[in-house]
Amino acid sequence: MANYSRFLLLLLPLLLHIHSVRSELQLKYYTKSCPRAEDIIKEQVATLYHKHGNTAVSWIRNLFHDCMVKSCDASLYLDTANGLESEKETPRNFGMRNFKYIETIKQALEKECPNTVSCADIVALSARDGLLWLGGPIRIEMKTGRKDSKETYFSEVEKYLPNHNDSMSSVLSRFQSIGIDTEGTVALLGAHSVGRVHCVNLVHRLYPTVDPTIDPDYAKYLKGRCTSPNPDPEAVLYSRFDRETTMILDNIYYKNILNKKGLLIVDQELVTDPNTSPFVVKMAADNNYFHQQFARAMLILSENNPLIGDQGEIRKVCRYVNSA
Ligand code: HEM
Ligand SMILES: *[C@@H]1O[C@H](CO)[C@@H](O)[C@H](O)[C@H]1NC(C)=O
Repeated sequence: MANYSRFLLLLLPLLLHIHSVRSELQLKYYTKSCPRAEDIIKEQVATLYHKHGNTAVSWIRNLFHDCMVKSCDASLYLDTANGLESEKETPRNFGMRNFKYIETIKQALEKECPNTVSCADIVALSARDGLLWLGGPIRIEMKTGRKDSKETYFSEVEKYLPNHNDSMSSVLSRFQSIGIDTEGTVALLGAHSVGRVHCVNLVHRLYPTVDPTIDPDYAKYLKGRCTSPNPDPEAVLYSRFDRETTMILDNIYYKNILNKKGLLIVDQELVTDPNTSPFVVKMAADNNYFHQQFARAMLILSENNPLIGDQGEIRKVCRYVNSA
């Protein structure tokens, strides 16, 4: 009897281990349930890129804005409906675009294997596959098995997502809280090598006086892009992060900020903060190193606190919960 219970005690950790492994993210989670899932996402991201190039840019920002806020659970994509307020409506998510194209990918997956592949996994894999079209890191081995949320975190978005003018120390501590170190944070901000910023996020650096951390010629250019200190928020007035290679995720971003040509305050702070500036210098000198660090940090971001096992659900349509 004593031997028998000792045997059970030995077995217990093994049983618990098997259980916990089952409910974690894993590589190729859909191998049996939907063998072509990852290929379909990859194909759709490619097709969409060729029709609307900046979808590739959006997948990357969308991953950040979904995963940073509590969980990689596609909560970002829910529309305002059924008593849920959409995260898309918060000021932090101003300027985000191309949300509707996740439904194109989702429909292709539903056709092949209904009710099987989560929107949250599309969020992760589309960002990875989008990077390929932007000349980003070649291959990131991303796990799958995320479930979709049944709720949104409208009122908590600002608690998690930094603002354009936050101090670098508060930015670093937010990333630290999800396991991304200083080096990884510097790399992820390199996403600001692609895409654009609307004038509403820039004018406070230009009017009434020009922020001295902006190169004077560059400030002149930006004032030409944003001619009014009070831009109409409805107007699509913007400037691109990187005028030379607008659609390539490369280390020109770091060269620009070293030359006082950062667009947002947080971009420029990477240079003025002594904790981050050594990494800026290293990344400006070595694109491969930037890509390695970007891939490493992106992976951590994509695995932030996912819903797994029987948590959440697999939505049929990414903008609505199933119970609707
Ligand atoms: C301190 C952290 C960050 C802040 C405060 C921040 C803020 C912003 C702001 C204000 C914009 C411009 C929005 C607009 O006016 O339209 C923007 C654009 C963008 N951000 Fe960030 N961001 C941060 C980190 C990141 C990270 C980690 C990523 C991805 C890995 C990312 C990806 C992007 C992309 C791709 C765009 C361009 C979007 C487009 O052109 O549609 N950002 N960000
Ligand atoms: C940061 O920008 C917001 C607008 O996005 C503004 O309301 C706030 O006062 C600014 N904070 C600082 C410290 O400048």
